Amino acid sequence: MTGSQAKATADVLAWYEAMGADEAIGEAPVDRFAAPPAPKAKAAPQKPAAARPRPAPNSAKPAASASASMAPESIESAATLEELEALVGQFEGCALKRTAKNTCFYRGSTAARIMLIGEAPGRDEDLQGKPFVGRAGQLLDRMLGAIGLDESSVYITNTIYWRPPGNRTPTPEEIGSCAPFLSRQIELLKPDVMVLLGGAAAKSILDVTDGIMRLRGRWKIYRTETRDIPTLATLHPAYLLRKPGEKRLAWRDMLMLKERLESLKT
Ligand code: URA
Repeated sequence: MTGSQAKATADVLAWYEAMGADEAIGEAPVDRFAAPPAPKAKAAPQKPAAARPRPAPNSAKPAASASASMAPESIESAATLEELEALVGQFEGCALKRTAKNTCFYRGSTAARIMLIGEAPGRDEDLQGKPFVGRAGQLLDRMLGAIGLDESSVYITNTIYWRPPGNRTPTPEEIGSCAPFLSRQIELLKPDVMVLLGGAAAKSILDVTDGIMRLRGRWKIYRTETRDIPTLATLHPAYLLRKPGEKRLAWRDMLMLKERLESLKT
């Protein structure tokens, strides 16, 4: 490779990285600029479309095949968090699993009374197979530490268990495909309080469309079959890294959490 070719290649890679494509997801490169293949020899005339069997109305195929999705009863039948994690390992109904390196099920303690739910694993999380272990996670740990909490007192997970390529925002379908597992995860952990980190988690768990600035700093109730869980939305640590000036709002939320936890002790 000549010097100018090497430079052009390095420039292209830098451009990909800046666009969020910081990971190879296939073994062989795909040349998307290659000339299209030559047209095949003319095929024999096909039967008119009307002659082919047509699916009955409303028989649209579900996005995932029966084996790829998982029956709600199987998810409900998970009696422990370990069993649920094993089911998530078998689940093929979320396409993100195919490009992710690892499943990020949780970090922290299964005996914790406080559950935190973020948006989606990022690059560091994907590499380590645990939620919130990168820069945002380190800030989260400092926020928790400021009110006397650490990994032994919290259980941290996300709305989805696999990293979206390039850290893009997960689609509603991706969040929806993992949602039955997440609700079972909440039922099995039985937390005393939940904290929702950022708009994606807040909207999906509280089932609302409001933005995070309206949702944060207010206690809401998340209902399960067996209990009502006080739930607080706050700003996502990754957002706070980009907008440090907003940390004062997150600090107020942390103080609300601390106060609630103290009232639960008495
Ligand atoms: N952001 C999230 O929402 N979750 C993680 O696990 C890491 C970053």
